[in-house]
Amino acid sequence: LPVEGLQSGGAGPLYLKLRQSLEEAILSGKLNHGDALPPERDLADYANVSRVTVRKAVDDLVRDGLLVRRHGSGTFVVRPVSRVEQSLSRLTSFTEDMARRGLNTRAEWLERGLFHPSPDEMMTLGLPADALVARLGRLRIADDMPLAIERACVSVEFVPDPLSVASSLYAVLEKVNARPVRAVQRISACNIKDPDASMLGVAVGSAGLSIERVSYLSSGRVVEFTRSLYRGDAYDFVAELTIPE
Ligand code: GLP
Repeated sequence: LPVEGLQSGGAGPLYLKLRQSLEEAILSGKLNHGDALPPERDLADYANVSRVTVRKAVDDLVRDGLLVRRHGSGTFVVRPVSRVEQSLSRLTSFTEDMARRGLNTRAEWLERGLFHPSPDEMMTLGLPADALVARLGRLRIADDMPLAIERACVSVEFVPDPLSVASSLYAVLEKVNARPVRAVQRISACNIKDPDASMLGVAVGSAGLSIERVSYLSSGRVVEFTRSLYRGDAYDFVAELTIPE
């Protein structure tokens, strides 16, 4: 950390200098999203300032959203993301959306297997209780920034082997001629709770967008029922409006 011996040189309150060095380290990527900040005492020793000074600097950065305190586990870095703009009217996949912006995607799997559908999955996918569905739950990461938690549910006939979905679900569906051609999407505002908040690396209670997508084949059959939670500080949905005929 570039905060060693802050006492020496320059005017102005010490906590502001400490705040500034930490802010620079975060914005320049010296400190990464999700990194734990050293304990207050260590930081104070290292920067040669008092713990009160450290606390003031950290409080400031927490208030500005560059650090987040997690009860019982410490203080963590939140690197602000440039907002991603997403068209509301195009039926594209996450992988494609990010690729168009030159971002690489990867996933951390939260759930990937075959299950019996829950009541709402049965209703939405039009399946009986003894059917099987593939559930694909993942933390979606673009250029190392966690952007969304996505839980897709697809009938087993389209994805017989959930482990075959290594990266893009739509690419897998395309191979079996089941890429959706139409979808209905509902977006609502929410506050992100734990454990989602810690997976996304944001403070508990941060603004989120909860998105439900039901996608259809041209035959009218439902292919996918997906519930996602996007970071509100990272995503803009943009719609083009036209005059009704
Ligand atoms: C978007 C949609 C999901 C869809 C996913 C497919 O994120 N909100 O409903 O399942 O794209 O993305 P990919 O093909 O990258 O898995």
